[in-house]
Amino acid sequence: MTELNKKTPAPAAAGSDGSGPEPLLKVDGLVKHFPITKGVLKRKVGAVQAVDGLTFDVRPGETLGVVGESGCGKSTMGRLVTRLLEPTGGKVEFQGRDITHLSAGRLRPMRRDIQMIFQDPYGSLNPRHTVGGIVSTPFRLQGVKPEGGVKAEVQRLLELVGLNPEHYNRYPHEFSGGQRQRIGIARALALKPKLVVADEPVSALDVSIQAQVVNLLDDLQDELGLTYMIIAHDLSVIRHVSDRIAVMYLGKIVELADRKSLYEAPMHPYTKALMSAVPVPDPRRRGAKSDRILLKGDVPSPISPPAGCRFHTRCWKATEICGTTEPPLLQLKTGHQVACHHPENAPDQAPGEQVLAGAREAVELVTVTKAEPSDPAEVPESAKAPEPEEATDAPDAAPDSTKE
Ligand SMILES: Nc1ncnc2c1ncn2[C@@H]1O[C@H](COP(=O)(O)OP(=O)(O)OP(=O)(O)O)[C@@H](O)[C@H]1O
Ligand code: SF4
Ligand SMILES: [Mg+2]
Repeated sequence: MTELNKKTPAPAAAGSDGSGPEPLLKVDGLVKHFPITKGVLKRKVGAVQAVDGLTFDVRPGETLGVVGESGCGKSTMGRLVTRLLEPTGGKVEFQGRDITHLSAGRLRPMRRDIQMIFQDPYGSLNPRHTVGGIVSTPFRLQGVKPEGGVKAEVQRLLELVGLNPEHYNRYPHEFSGGQRQRIGIARALALKPKLVVADEPVSALDVSIQAQVVNLLDDLQDELGLTYMIIAHDLSVIRHVSDRIAVMYLGKIVELADRKSLYEAPMHPYTKALMSAVPVPDPRRRGAKSDRILLKGDVPSPISPPAGCRFHTRCWKATEICGTTEPPLLQLKTGHQVACHHPENAPDQAPGEQVLAGAREAVELVTVTKAEPSDPAEVPESAKAPEPEEATDAPDAAPDSTKE
């Protein structure tokens, strides 16, 4: 929800300064390097530094949004905290318990409490299983017998996510994209998890359907007391759903702040550039002119990331220290951490340094007229009509993945 209409402030919105309730999830120095091997002997010749030292926590009842460009390590982070991947280094604690290197057997009971929703509502549902079969999978895997029987419980879940319980015996291809994502959500909620990690839950969906799924996630959070980590590359979706937001760049968290603080006064130049591209949700300011910061050049390779600050090759404020010394993630304001030697909206952390020759050419300023809303909260009412519950004529293309 937007700042104005987010219903209840999450208890976790207390900030990232150590105050507030005990974290549900605690991540410390988390690292994942994927080895690059060569030849039949699989000699290691390098590594993709997908995630490189993340430290953050998630408090009960909050939504932590995670945003960043493609390839910055968001999905890898999601798969590490849900322990679908084994970390290379660092620590993951869930409810005070170290789960970093738990074996598959020991992870099993914990899997009830931490669930993941995937981006692709086509690929993440097995096309050969009925909706009933898909949503009841977690019960089978965990050997759980719900009170009243599996079928009744699955039908209750289908109803909870806004699907017709009578469609229990239908197959995924008989549903639209938004409905399939609802099936994925019902499956994730089956075992009453505490933490739900949603990886780009709406980015494969049409904008009008995005609003419905985002609102569904929001309602379910209130109803079931869920804690969310929601990953997205779209800052308007993130703004809509998050209490706090982590901004990632090349495997690192560069800024972590309460939503209000981040949007009102971003400190990291990268965040500022990302946000300059987001349409203004305030209708009174629509039509106003503003400068959009266009970053030039590509994101460097995570195989050999730049030394010092990883953003220095694209930053218009870069000085000598930026190319040599990695800035630590520091709390410069209550509830607002940033990793930058020369932050915006905060005191300079390395005063006296000269901006490098050529740094200013790293960006281009383009004056744009803010016009098009893309915040899901901004979708016109007419587009928010309930999705047709009937089976659609969506193409039958069989998804190539059958993961469940
Ligand atoms: N299994 C793997 N083996 C090798 N490299 C991988 C693997 N999974 C991810 N990577 C690499 O790690 C980096 C981070 O990938 P990741 O999928 O986490 O990024 P992302 O932020 O989720 O991107 P997107 O927004 O495109 O989903 C990328 O360079 C990717 O190519
Ligand atoms: S000012 Fe320096 S430390 Fe800050 S983002 Fe730019 S390059 Fe990185
Ligand atoms: Mg991803």
